[in-house]
Amino acid sequence: MKKLSIPAFSLGRQIAQNKTALLAAFEQVIDQQAFIGGSFVAAFEQQLATYLDSSYVISCNSGTDALWMALHALRIPKNGIVLTTPFSFIASSTEIAAHGGHPVFIDIEHDTFNINPQLLAAWLEKNAYFEGQTTIHKATGFPVVGIIPVDLFGQCADYRMLHDIAETWNLWIIEDTAQAIGASYGEKKAGTLGNIGAFSFYPTKNLGAFGDAGACVTDDPILAERLLQVRHHGRKAGYDYEELGINSRLDALQAVALAQRLPLLDGFNDRRRAIAQQYNHAFATLPNVQVPRQISGHHVYHQYTILVRDISGKSLRSELEHYLAQHGIQTRIFYPQPLHTIPFLNTHLALATACPVATMVSDACLSLPMWPEMTDEEVQAVCSTVQTFFAQPRMAQHSAV
Ligand SMILES: Cc1ncc(COP(=O)(O)O)c(C=O)c1O
Repeated sequence: MKKLSIPAFSLGRQIAQNKTALLAAFEQVIDQQAFIGGSFVAAFEQQLATYLDSSYVISCNSGTDALWMALHALRIPKNGIVLTTPFSFIASSTEIAAHGGHPVFIDIEHDTFNINPQLLAAWLEKNAYFEGQTTIHKATGFPVVGIIPVDLFGQCADYRMLHDIAETWNLWIIEDTAQAIGASYGEKKAGTLGNIGAFSFYPTKNLGAFGDAGACVTDDPILAERLLQVRHHGRKAGYDYEELGINSRLDALQAVALAQRLPLLDGFNDRRRAIAQQYNHAFATLPNVQVPRQISGHHVYHQYTILVRDISGKSLRSELEHYLAQHGIQTRIFYPQPLHTIPFLNTHLALATACPVATMVSDACLSLPMWPEMTDEEVQAVCSTVQTFFAQPRMAQHSAV
């Protein structure tokens, strides 16, 4: 039997399919020597705005910069408290701390892996009060200013409840949608569900560049103006600098790569959804596997992440991970450490929270191979190898009821 070799993620086939068009796009940029700013970048921003049905797209150098710029544009005050998820890539929290703010971690739902809005509402009820238009944290006196939900693994957080909470407590929302381009919630596309949406086009994302790239998206003209200014050293016009900003640019080579691939995105995402369905079907009868739950909206499966536990709740992840690796199937762990346990993100003793669900999920989660160009045979091989692992006699004790 031929040994399998299925990577967790690969761009090889996708690049091979689109190489001619990509090289032609790069050639145009080189020929015009329009490397920074200019019409290629503007054209991609317009194309993305149309795709998202959003008024303003302000491109930048990365998803991390997009979050930094969004917090800056929303004028996060020093000591401002932002409620966010403990189960994400670190950038969704670090940028709060980078502005002198405090991330407060609200635990997640065990099956969507997104922030739990019920717990968020409960935290505010217990810990905050209103003073004029400002929400104040009782124990520290710091203002509570916003929420950063993350649309983790390609699924939007529960914005219906999040909007209600934001309205009740006068908070803004920055939607970290680095992993969910093309997803939707109700009628709206991911990235358009908060005051500002922050995208990353890191090469492994559903829409990836060939290097670093990101964007902020908003419908608010004032925020759009501030974002434009802050990404360019705080420049108002010419050599007139109004505030401290950064230099964060999407370069034209990345812009044309993204412009070339954006029309293909929905097709890529459909394929991801079809793969997820094959996985869901194959694992439906395995008692030790929890498959991701899709709530309302269109999940685009940036990752397909399962929880593997025995009947007592003990993680079986490393056994499965090693078994799959031995059989030529690569997996990934997103994320092995929940953010509330990272010391430098615990910025104030009175703001520490317990997040037992995120801790459990970090211990038992495993992301299976997920990329649009996987063949049905490869998907099937992953399914049957997982099934064979759980069919081993030594696994019976773990699933007995
Ligand atoms: C949820 C989340 N937020 C933010 C980022 C940061 O994006 P970038 O790597 O482009 O800075 C990422 C990317 O890895 C991410 O997955």
